[in-house]
Amino acid sequence: MNNLRPVGVIGTGKYVPEKILTNSDLEKMVDTNDEWIVSRTGIKERHIAAPDQATSDLAYEAAIKALESAGMTGSDLDLIIVATITPDSSFPSTACILQDKLGAKGAAAFDLSAACSGFVYGLATATSFIQSGMYNNALVIGADCLSRITDYTDRNTCVLFGDGAGAVIVGEVPEGRGFKSFDLGAEGAGGSLLQMEGGGSRLPASVETVENKKHYIYMNGREVFKFAVRVMGTATIEVLRKAGLERTDVDLFVPHQANIRIIQSAMQRLELPEEKVVVNVDKYANTSAASIPLALVEAAEEGRMKAGDTVLMVGFGGGLTWGASVLVW
Ligand code: UT7
Repeated sequence: MNNLRPVGVIGTGKYVPEKILTNSDLEKMVDTNDEWIVSRTGIKERHIAAPDQATSDLAYEAAIKALESAGMTGSDLDLIIVATITPDSSFPSTACILQDKLGAKGAAAFDLSAACSGFVYGLATATSFIQSGMYNNALVIGADCLSRITDYTDRNTCVLFGDGAGAVIVGEVPEGRGFKSFDLGAEGAGGSLLQMEGGGSRLPASVETVENKKHYIYMNGREVFKFAVRVMGTATIEVLRKAGLERTDVDLFVPHQANIRIIQSAMQRLELPEEKVVVNVDKYANTSAASIPLALVEAAEEGRMKAGDTVLMVGFGGGLTWGASVLVW
């Protein structure tokens, strides 16, 4: 990527809904307890969308802040990519709904489905469009309302997820900064380990699919855990190699916020000290595509990156998929 136009992050914004669901709230809903949830996952609470909020509403709030921080308005946008597995509806895309709300007339808009890796996939897509010269900027959002597809009678999954949105504006940056490498991948053979079976063309919605809970997330937690630990390590090493960097060059590590134990195993493997790692899984739980941008934007807001710092993002999720990127801030 070195000889191409430098492309990086020129604006950031995030949004989480007001309502907080704590571990003690969940204790009243299913057979679980705070001690189990905190020790197995690191999660203490999560934010849940209001009944009248859909994914595009969360995305809109994050997008407005990102545009403001870039000194832009919707009409300046060339491209909108929304990474999500919980679109407002199958179609039109959530990106098109957002394009209208933002007044981004003329911007191309589409959704991208790569679950928790979706934001990094979106960054790679936007960067390629801009480096090719086709567009000058893009709004890339990771937004999900997992609460809408979570079975709150299933303790195996309902303690894990939350709602939110994180947004960045991607555009040209000064020489030496911006995205240095991406590593995207998939293992489609593992798709059934983490899925929502119902509502698509294979298993359209019916009374039976509703009765059989086919419109909720199903996850084989143990198998996904093993996949996560493996690819967090391999993708990180590969994306550093592609950037021509060593693990000691990383100033800030921004991992997908699914489980503190998965983050800790990556920290150990990379020998990263705590101060170089962004962790907010305790406050937001696993927000799928919103997880990495929420962590990135929060770190930016807290002043944890300065210009020229090397930031490494890495995520994994349904598909199964993974995505990693090295970004010089
Ligand atoms: O972004 C998407 C990617 N998804 C993930 O990253 C999730 C990856 N997986 C995980 O994070 C972990 O596998 C979980 C947190 C989902 C589960 O942790 P675990 O240490 O793998 O637990 P387990 O599934 O092996 O379950 C251990 C026990 C079981 O009881 P038995 O069979 O040993 O009697 C579960 O039934 O814990 C039980 N359990 C619970 N107990 C209290 C499962 N969920 C709960 C709960 N509260 N909420």
